[in-house]
Amino acid sequence: MMKISIIGSGYVGLVTGVCLSDFGWQVTCVDQNEEIIHKLNQGIAPIYEPGLDDLLLKNLYNKRISFTTDIKQSVMDADIIFIAVGTPQNNDGSANLTNVFEVAHQIGHFMNSKKIIVDKSTVPVGTGQLVKKIIREELEARELNLDYDMVSNPEFLRQGSAIYDFTHADRVVIGAESQEAIDAMKEVYRVLFINETPFLIVNIETAEMVKYASNAFLATKISFINELTELCEKTGANIQQVATGMGMDGRIGSKFLHAGPGYGGSCFPKDTKALLHIGNQQQCNLGIIKATIEANEKQKHRMVEIIAQAMGSLNGKRIGVLGLAFKNNTDDMREAPSLDILNELALQGTQFRVYDPKAMQNAKKLFHAGQIPIIKYCDDEYDASLDMDAIILMTEWNQFRSLNLDHIKKNMRGNYFFDFRNIYSKEIMVQKGFQYYCVGRS
Ligand code: UDX
Repeated sequence: MMKISIIGSGYVGLVTGVCLSDFGWQVTCVDQNEEIIHKLNQGIAPIYEPGLDDLLLKNLYNKRISFTTDIKQSVMDADIIFIAVGTPQNNDGSANLTNVFEVAHQIGHFMNSKKIIVDKSTVPVGTGQLVKKIIREELEARELNLDYDMVSNPEFLRQGSAIYDFTHADRVVIGAESQEAIDAMKEVYRVLFINETPFLIVNIETAEMVKYASNAFLATKISFINELTELCEKTGANIQQVATGMGMDGRIGSKFLHAGPGYGGSCFPKDTKALLHIGNQQQCNLGIIKATIEANEKQKHRMVEIIAQAMGSLNGKRIGVLGLAFKNNTDDMREAPSLDILNELALQGTQFRVYDPKAMQNAKKLFHAGQIPIIKYCDDEYDASLDMDAIILMTEWNQFRSLNLDHIKKNMRGNYFFDFRNIYSKEIMVQKGFQYYCVGRS
């Protein structure tokens, strides 16, 4: 039985660990954070992710997964070691590799037999070779001549459907240098192989690039459609129907063409900037990626302009905000468009009542640190509309698709409704007495 250790029990590490233990492997997840490890051993996950709690409890009960802060023992026990630590953004946009390199040093410091080291963290092209070198140097310092393999195996998990994405992957990308490592990785993912999930076997550098290229392309798709929203508003075209028409072309595809307030989250903003930085370092001009980032900033700012143009002066205005997370089905507030949009509105004197089904705790931490005046963190969407001049529908939670609009309207003191996810039809909203604004539909 292959033993797997996963270093880093954050979002990616935890989902990977829980899913691989459910595939039948013996998994140990490691993290420095004692509190998180203690809770995980009791079956309490530090993040919200559909299906995660059930799988965690099931595999804890079956003793296929355990959690520890003891990196030494985990490295020594494992046949395969996954690196799944964070690669946050440096001030200049580059990926911060401190955690990855620290783990590489520890692996080299503690390993005592042949291992396969798999990088799952999103890292610039060339990092896999650097990790390999660090481990070699640590072994040399210990005068050990141990064999080991380096593999790059990027993740493509979406928050909110990470468990599903892991078990129904479109592809598994494996960047490796030996047949033995390739065979071991295929064994790890055997459950998917039987499902006919395609495996792409390439070199380490290509695997590292596939990850950045995929995320940058998806971000570009969103920025492309968002850039056209203003033109649609001015010309009388309907962006949703334009996207449908484009998507009917099999070469384009209908996914990721939903216009909105801009993309956010822990991946697209960070990875596009990191790719641009890698391009600059190599003196390659990545103009399309640059334009994608700029269009996203512009889109957030344009949402504020739509509100300001409709309402006139924003000083003293009160707005109820439905949804704060960067997208639905997650409690994650990282780079959420709501942060920039509310900040900008606050600078013009607006106050808010806010409600999000899952992200309220995380939002509180950020709003307290900033200058966003919150009248109340509300219990539901109706509470958030009480005495408001306007509503912003910011995040497309399912429960916001069937609002009792009459109730909302009655609660409000004004009648502006800004639907930044294009959920409602203009006719119905006007009929209900709202001044209705959306994105890319004139
Ligand atoms: C993304 C990638 O999808 C995933 O493969 C990668 O591993 C990590 O980054 P995630 O950040 O969880 O996943 O979210 P995703 O569902 O891709 O959405 C990202 C952002 O784009 C959200 O802010 C979302 O609202 C926005 N978006 C997405 C749009 O505005 N329109 C779309 O059509 C799709």
